[in-house]
Amino acid sequence: MRKFFTYSFALTMLAVPVSLSAQVAGLVLNTDQTADTISRHIYGNFSEHLGHCIYGGLWVGENSTIPNNRGIRNDVVDALKRINIPNLRWPGGCFADEYHWMDGIGPRENRPKMVNTHWGGVVEDNSFGTHEFLDLCEQLGAEPYICGNVGSGSVEEMSKWVEYITFDGKSPMAELRRMNGRELPWKVKFWGVGNENWGCGGNMTAEFYADQYRRYATYARNYGSNRLFKIAGGPNSNDYHWMETLMKNIPHDMLNGVSLHYYTIPGTWEKKGSATQFTEAEYFSTIKHTLFMEELITRHSSIMDQYDPKKEVGLFVDEWGTWYDVEPGTNPGFLFQQNTLRDALVAGINLNIYNNHSDRVKGANIAQLVNVLQSIIFTDGDKMVLTPTYYVFEMYKVHQNAALIPLSFKSPIYSWQGDAIPAVSASASKNKAGKIHVTFTNADPHKAVELNIEIRGALPGNLSGTLLTAGELSAHNTFSGPGNVKPVTFSGAKLNRNILTVILPAASVVMLEMN
Ligand code: AHR
Repeated sequence: MRKFFTYSFALTMLAVPVSLSAQVAGLVLNTDQTADTISRHIYGNFSEHLGHCIYGGLWVGENSTIPNNRGIRNDVVDALKRINIPNLRWPGGCFADEYHWMDGIGPRENRPKMVNTHWGGVVEDNSFGTHEFLDLCEQLGAEPYICGNVGSGSVEEMSKWVEYITFDGKSPMAELRRMNGRELPWKVKFWGVGNENWGCGGNMTAEFYADQYRRYATYARNYGSNRLFKIAGGPNSNDYHWMETLMKNIPHDMLNGVSLHYYTIPGTWEKKGSATQFTEAEYFSTIKHTLFMEELITRHSSIMDQYDPKKEVGLFVDEWGTWYDVEPGTNPGFLFQQNTLRDALVAGINLNIYNNHSDRVKGANIAQLVNVLQSIIFTDGDKMVLTPTYYVFEMYKVHQNAALIPLSFKSPIYSWQGDAIPAVSASASKNKAGKIHVTFTNADPHKAVELNIEIRGALPGNLSGTLLTAGELSAHNTFSGPGNVKPVTFSGAKLNRNILTVILPAASVVMLEMN
């Protein structure tokens, strides 16, 4: 026991008093009883024409002094490659349903300018369009996930976009693409048929949207060997009627996925709370709202199971993450917020939930990649900093395409003023090389947790780990302090034959590797 106290002593730098909570026993890791593959697309990201996400964050233009490859920042591309970014959603978001793709092709100086009505009313000069986005995806080695315009676009417009990008033969759109400098078609897998069509994407009813989906999806063709994976604009949070209507009314041979949007908002829509100046009540609320994702996925999945028992239609949580008040002094339309250790915990919990629902959850996209909501990267001119959330994606990348090892355990409770939530979340997987990875979060800011895990079906000889925590829940990385919240080697786990003992520090994210 002594080492445990030594370990928790090392955490006295936390701003809140830390003690060791009750031990958790009875946790079994059946390493030879794997379930579904954890789709790597759960680790997707989202780039929207919003604030400084595209302009400044990803795109600086070919003539910039910031190192770039055909206008795309090298530092951001390198950082994203390190986390194996699997797919990138674009151009929105609400922006998608007012985006007209033909404005974003051809010589940049001739592209029309538009007003970005959703996001700050700024001028969008369309210098980042289809060619630039697909170039970015090629540089990243990530699958493009394009969201088409249903709200203010037409069936013809979407149909032509697919033809422009993916058709290899002779056709007006393929010729236009060639005229614009791209001989060969691109491969595009994920195709969103509208975004939030219950709201900014046209304020439609579920029934009306389901019919619209059928029209739009019919003319979004598969050309050559390209196979579109078509994703319907799914429900807002717990709108179960929306899910049921889509699953019932859209033939499943034209539906590969349904999206789900849910943001973690600690306060109210009008007063969401600050990203960095928060009380324990707001922290507790953030974690509690994050855990609601478990209920959402369970209930949406059960509706999907009713209409699709073979689980052929994937659930794509293609917008998720924290949403706070904008940073004081910044453009309210740009939705720029800081990112702290609290956000890292939110990311770790959500990703564990998605992994554990791998039978139905086939993709997810945190919002937004850079300089907006729960961003993994911030840029300012030529400077770049990685956020605590980035490091969670780096730690969890080991689960991409690995086989899920189902886990069940009773978490200790984190209680706050009469309310209680589970403190610990976890998910586990085995990769093709036989390595076992377990990721944990301990959301309790006061108590470390001791876990005793019995490993069955393997006798690992090697154990290593990574820990992400900090002295304060509000700790964050800045351009002058980029290492304030950074992963370190974890030494709080011990293997004694098949018994794994782990001390999860208070407010921490941990990744363990065994083989
Ligand atoms: O992420 C910001 C906005 O939130 C997206 O554009 C929209 O889809 C959602 O409402």
